[in-house]
Amino acid sequence: MHFQEIKPDIFYCGLNDCGRKMFDELIPLENGTSYNSFLIKGSEKTAIIDTMYPPFTDEYIKNLEENGVEHIDYIIENHGEQDHSGSIPALLERFPEAVVVTNPKVAENLNSMLHVSPEKIKTVGNNEELSLGDKTLQFIFAPGVHWPDTMFTYIKEDNILFTCDFLGAHYTFDDVFAVPSQELEHSAKRYYAEIMMPFRMMCKKYTQIVKDMNVDMILPSHGPVYKNPEIILDLYEDWTSDTPKNLVVLPYVSMYDSTKSMTDYLAEKLETAGIKTYKHDIVNGDLGDLAMALVDASTIVLGTSMVLAGPHPASVNIAYVVSILRPKAKFAALIGSYGWGGKLFDLIGQILAPLKLDMVAEPLQVKGKPKTEDYKKLDEIADAIIEKHKQ
Ligand code: FEO
Repeated sequence: MHFQEIKPDIFYCGLNDCGRKMFDELIPLENGTSYNSFLIKGSEKTAIIDTMYPPFTDEYIKNLEENGVEHIDYIIENHGEQDHSGSIPALLERFPEAVVVTNPKVAENLNSMLHVSPEKIKTVGNNEELSLGDKTLQFIFAPGVHWPDTMFTYIKEDNILFTCDFLGAHYTFDDVFAVPSQELEHSAKRYYAEIMMPFRMMCKKYTQIVKDMNVDMILPSHGPVYKNPEIILDLYEDWTSDTPKNLVVLPYVSMYDSTKSMTDYLAEKLETAGIKTYKHDIVNGDLGDLAMALVDASTIVLGTSMVLAGPHPASVNIAYVVSILRPKAKFAALIGSYGWGGKLFDLIGQILAPLKLDMVAEPLQVKGKPKTEDYKKLDEIADAIIEKHKQ
């Protein structure tokens, strides 16, 4: 548990969860995560910005008590998801004088999900202000980054912005201030890929809004605090841009190496033509690595074996994950191998349809090991991708 001064009368009071291995039971965590909470001591009122993931509630409240917090006027809740709001009922029990301050959507979520009484919640409007005496909080609604209820809190006198999940990272630290490193950038990208990429256009919009605010510090609800906001904002500008990179992502599942050999062949042809590739073994690979590659990819080539008369279930799952992450990729191809017969691609095509990917060639369904004519078709797929990437 941390208690660290960030600026005079502003303290970090969150904690590292070094042992957490998965987030949302979906993406593996390489560096654990942190649940950030902040204490703001105004000359007249005291506020907490965001609370704690429920399994750590007791530790969180004990930390506040041990650091002399005896009274809380406001609990500012930027977002209703329980990794930040889950401790509110316990916090209200310990500090019964406190009032939760939030927007109407978070208020509704706190009431319906955590049964927080509406009488304990004060709702605010977009850009509304709340005085703590010598510090003024301003609430900036940011719907869709990433929940409809998300908002930011800005402290005017300090020119610092609490951005909720936006601009965060699954990362742990001894000192709350970000030290730029490849590892931190990697964690922030992995976090963006899972949590923010489905809302890329909103993230793009709010990246610009935050840039224009010219704040002195960004304080997200996961990962370190940025004293140099441009570090993370420049990364978000790149990740949210409409222009994908010269990268082909090839997720595949292969029971007897036929689909794998097709994937390998295609990847080698593309690499020879100067296109970067990322092959992803669906069964044994790390889903976070795939998600990160999808942040940049122009083209997705999905390879699958057949199980019974349809695509391998693991490839169906990956198609679904890709469809909900909504990468900016523009092109796709489907390849695979079967044994006795069936349809490999109908279901996968349906799942990917919302992405409106431009299929560069007819799906290639090969019986058993690819033959000479199949390699010719793979050459045609490679040529079509190379042509698209020239654009
Ligand atoms: Fe970290 Fe959307 O909660």
